Amino acid sequence: MKHVFQQGSDLQAPVLVLFHGTGGTEHDLLPLASLIAPASSVLSIRGNVLENGMPRFFRRLAEGIFDEEDLIFRTKELNDFLDQAAVDYKFDRYNLVAIGYSNGANIVGSLLFHYQDALRGAMLHHPMVPLRGLVLPDLSSTPCFIGAGTNDPICPPRETEELQALLSGAGAPVIVHWENFGHQLTQSEVNAAAGWYKQHF
Ligand code: MLT
Repeated sequence: MKHVFQQGSDLQAPVLVLFHGTGGTEHDLLPLASLIAPASSVLSIRGNVLENGMPRFFRRLAEGIFDEEDLIFRTKELNDFLDQAAVDYKFDRYNLVAIGYSNGANIVGSLLFHYQDALRGAMLHHPMVPLRGLVLPDLSSTPCFIGAGTNDPICPPRETEELQALLSGAGAPVIVHWENFGHQLTQSEVNAAAGWYKQHF
């Protein structure tokens, strides 16, 4: 997968793995990583799917309606990519913390739903429920931060609460930080994620 890897100064710190929103690139979230964990190595990935020229992490049939078969395929492809990146860049595969926004947060959610050890923790900015009807792995060692909007037109609050309940039901310590700026990722939401990260890692 197209990506950038930046070696950090602290090789024991979690590697931050970044996932952009629809139409973004692997460069979009790099400033968040330096704000949240400046000494961490960073692996930032570009989604493998194109929708009218816009990179995404999996196909969708319409806004908010996911192509589940593709989502499952892309989730495995991504998990395999992380396995290989750990070998290529010599980092600990079990010391990854994700930051995802929108479509990127949705693929991170799908990684959490499918693979117990894919991530040590996750910051999900404006995520949806990636898919329903799965038995989730034990996520009791995987703290999650959700940033959501009370007036997010893409992800209504009840879906945020459903995602929180699903992750909590799998044992994950989850906190939800609410904003009221729609689907936007604001500086105050990033600051809240940074505070959460310092508490947990
Ligand atoms: C998605 O397709 O993942 C969600 O609708 C969020 C988006 O990318 O707009």
